[in-house]
Amino acid sequence: MSSEPFTLRWGILATGGIATTFTKDLLIDPQTRDASDIRHVVAAAASSTSASRAAELLKSINAPPTARAYGSYTELVSDPDIDIIYIATPHSHHYHHARLCLNAGKHLLVEKPITVNAAQCQELRKLAREKGRFMMEAVWTRFFPLSREVCSIIQEGKLGDIKRVFADFSFWNDVQKEFGTQHRMVNPDLAGGALLDLGIYSLTWLFMALWHCQPADKRQEPAVSSAVSKCATGVDETTTVLLRFPGSGAQGVAGTSIIVATTPNAEHPNPGGDAVRIQGTLGDLTVDYAPRPRTYTLTPAVNEKRGKLADFEYEVVEKFKEIPGGGHGMFWEADECARCIRDGKLESEICGLEETEVVMRVMDQVRRQGGVVYPDVIESTESPLDGFGV
Ligand SMILES: NC(=O)c1ccc[n+]([C@@H]2O[C@H](COP(=O)([O-])OP(=O)(O)OC[C@H]3O[C@@H](n4cnc5c(N)ncnc54)[C@H](OP(=O)(O)O)[C@@H]3O)[C@@H](O)[C@H]2O)c1
Repeated sequence: MSSEPFTLRWGILATGGIATTFTKDLLIDPQTRDASDIRHVVAAAASSTSASRAAELLKSINAPPTARAYGSYTELVSDPDIDIIYIATPHSHHYHHARLCLNAGKHLLVEKPITVNAAQCQELRKLAREKGRFMMEAVWTRFFPLSREVCSIIQEGKLGDIKRVFADFSFWNDVQKEFGTQHRMVNPDLAGGALLDLGIYSLTWLFMALWHCQPADKRQEPAVSSAVSKCATGVDETTTVLLRFPGSGAQGVAGTSIIVATTPNAEHPNPGGDAVRIQGTLGDLTVDYAPRPRTYTLTPAVNEKRGKLADFEYEVVEKFKEIPGGGHGMFWEADECARCIRDGKLESEICGLEETEVVMRVMDQVRRQGGVVYPDVIESTESPLDGFGV
């Protein structure tokens, strides 16, 4: 392998909150996280409204002067000096913007949820394969070293058989006052609601423990039950999902809300918190915060009848992992994109598209059970680009 790091040239599609945070992380030297095999270049950013808005984004994060600012997404995808595009528009627009990028021959990292529904996700998978382009949903949580370590603990059998997982990601808002009706968190036209925005992180932990960390031949789609309470705009405000995985019979409970919080009045980090609880026959493992995990606590079962965890000798293990380089922690998913593209892979093994689609199918069922309906134009697999800022 060459000693020169592989360089991935990024185009940023959208200029909102998370586009800014992600692009800032791209600019952090990978050496600060002991990565010397890849490097990222912020080649350009685009706004659907004006080039000056894209220029402001680039300026606000001290992007290099070589980074170009575009006033339309079409111009961005036409730039031959971009390898991959990061899509950070509202959920409703992901499908349409992803098609635009794939048709222009770009690799893709698409913010969560990858699409509004599973049918759209399936169409994108087909198109990405046809075009021979890499595509991944930006579930950054999966790439935290702490999440990787939790997966290893499960896969090495240190918790025994996993039987139950609870996970919650909710944060408190005065929904009416803070969001009104137009904000993307509550606006049905933008596929708002707790489930698609926050609940996907709770589901991610259920799926990491009960699907991803299980042997491939044991992965089966779960049965889904749910309770949904809506806010005034008709999207879900508080949702609880109950999954039962066939075969193992393991159960998962995923909670999400935009009106009550996982941990009231507590700032993250919340060491010792248990936003996620993974329960095995030999012990429990809790994680402090679902989307951005920094601490896990492993408590072996101190119970002769349940056997003994040899490695842990009944000791409680608490581990804290700082996010290096002053970043937010989004660079690890970017590093994964670079390595996959360097190695000619079309999908990540840590966040593969089959699992992404199964999670989308679960969310489809929950919305159906709770009667959360979005306008046809954003549920459709047709792709008129009119009205999607292109
Ligand atoms: N990974 C995470 O931790 C995380 C955190 C927050 C959000 N997200 C995800 O990232 C995506 C964007 O969230 P955000 O919080 O960054 O949203 P935001 O601040 O509202 O930004 C969305 C951006 O999309 C563009 N856009 C295009 N058409 C739009 C339309 N019709 N209405 C509103 N904006 C439109 C706008 O930029 P231009 O028009 O200037 O391009 C806008 O700034 C969502 O999918 C969300 O789930 C992920």
